[in-house]
Amino acid sequence: MCMNKISNYTKKEKGLNGGTSEYLVHPKEMNNHLLHTHTSANVPIKLKTFVELTMDVASAPPRRYFFEVMSYFATAPHEKEKLQYFASPEGRDDLYQYNQKERRSVLEVLEDFPSVQMPFEWLVQLVPLLKTRAFSISSSPIAHSNQVHLTVSVVSWMTPFKRKRSGLCSTWLAKLDPEQSIYIPAWFQKGALSPPPPSLPLILIGPGTGCAPFRGFVEERAIQNESSATAPVLFFFGCRNEDGDFLYRDFWLSHSQNGGVLSEAKGGGLFVAFSRDQPQKVYVQHKVRENSRKIWNLLTEGAAIYIAGSSTKMPSDVLLAFEDIVSKEGGLPRESAVRLLRTLEKAGRYHVEAWS
Ligand SMILES: Cc1cc2nc3c(=O)[nH]c(=O)nc-3n(C[C@H](O)[C@H](O)[C@H](O)COP(=O)(O)OP(=O)(O)OC[C@H]3O[C@@H](n4cnc5c(N)ncnc54)[C@H](O)[C@@H]3O)c2cc1C
Ligand SMILES: NC(=O)c1ccc[n+]([C@@H]2O[C@H](COP(=O)([O-])OP(=O)(O)OC[C@H]3O[C@@H](n4cnc5c(N)ncnc54)[C@H](OP(=O)(O)O)[C@@H]3O)[C@@H](O)[C@H]2O)c1
Repeated sequence: MCMNKISNYTKKEKGLNGGTSEYLVHPKEMNNHLLHTHTSANVPIKLKTFVELTMDVASAPPRRYFFEVMSYFATAPHEKEKLQYFASPEGRDDLYQYNQKERRSVLEVLEDFPSVQMPFEWLVQLVPLLKTRAFSISSSPIAHSNQVHLTVSVVSWMTPFKRKRSGLCSTWLAKLDPEQSIYIPAWFQKGALSPPPPSLPLILIGPGTGCAPFRGFVEERAIQNESSATAPVLFFFGCRNEDGDFLYRDFWLSHSQNGGVLSEAKGGGLFVAFSRDQPQKVYVQHKVRENSRKIWNLLTEGAAIYIAGSSTKMPSDVLLAFEDIVSKEGGLPRESAVRLLRTLEKAGRYHVEAWS
């Protein structure tokens, strides 16, 4: 959402400051769904709610201009000097180390410069906008009507100065109490992986949280399989350790046995790569190559390939593995294999949804 200047807000006095005052908000663009609900109905919004819904004060690092504006409002000379340095071309590298590399939030930056009292009119324009986060739906509506399951990995990492950082939304979700009902603002958006019909053979590649959409696919196919024959499914999963993050382990294993949709008896298969259980990395693309013939046979039967996951490099590495397979099993020169896979993509038989 992009805001207009403060003059575009009409303050309706209803109380003191501290978040209880109410405002009428007129956003310039309508890409914040919840705010849209408030503003389109011309309903005044509490300042606290407005901040919670739109301003990322606790995660995203502010931009360089934020430091320049802070320098105007700093009253302590040493803070003013430091902020002016950060905002200058000479201070650019140090600012990058302090701000981006250490991923300091607006709140942390303001705490580091306590003499700065930035008026809300400035904050509202300079604080990074709170972004929405996308999650793949990992349940089938036939298996769980009126429910949507998500598979979320809590993002965390260490900065160069060994400060622990955590992803804003995934950490917040993980802290929710499952026993308590809570209102979470959420919207549905059509993704890149449309649900396949039961007659379509599938080759699914979903390491880590990339398995999320395929849990829904497999659930759905298992139910469809109860009433009529369904096409085979090969599923390739990858994670760090067999004992650590083998997500939905029992679910996949149960569908790979006793005539389940991933069982060999049904022409399917479950293949798992544990990347950190041995000195050499083993990834999904290694398992894909190991099953070259099986994959080729299914492709010649009209199978569609679906790839999902959080690693930015994974989709291109997996594509290389498919090019190898088409080239080797189909007896084609490399360029023809590349062309064939592009044709599959254009025909809606090669889908990728990746995030980082
Ligand atoms: C189409 C789509 C589907 C998705 N499906 C899922 C899903 O099913 N499950 C799921 O868990 N996620 C999924 N995601 C990712 C999800 O939207 C979020 O990006 C993820 O949960 C992190 O959000 P967060 O708010 O916790 O982290 P944020 O607060 O947004 O922090 C993440 C940011 O931190 C930084 N960062 C992260 N790790 C490091 C590091 N090691 N070093 C330096 N900087 C780092 C990066 O800038 C990164 O963008 C999907 C994304 C898309 C686009
Ligand atoms: N999975 C966890 O236990 C865990 C724990 C804490 C936080 N997180 C965070 O949550 C986020 C998402 O996690 P996730 O579980 O979806 O994914 P992930 O654990 O980061 O990755 C899933 C699997 O894909 C592998 N991989 C990495 N690069 C690859 C490539 N080029 N080709 C094929 N496979 C590749 C990983 O191996 P390697 O990583 O061994 O290279 C891992 O085995 C990440 O930010 C992660 O840091 C995950």
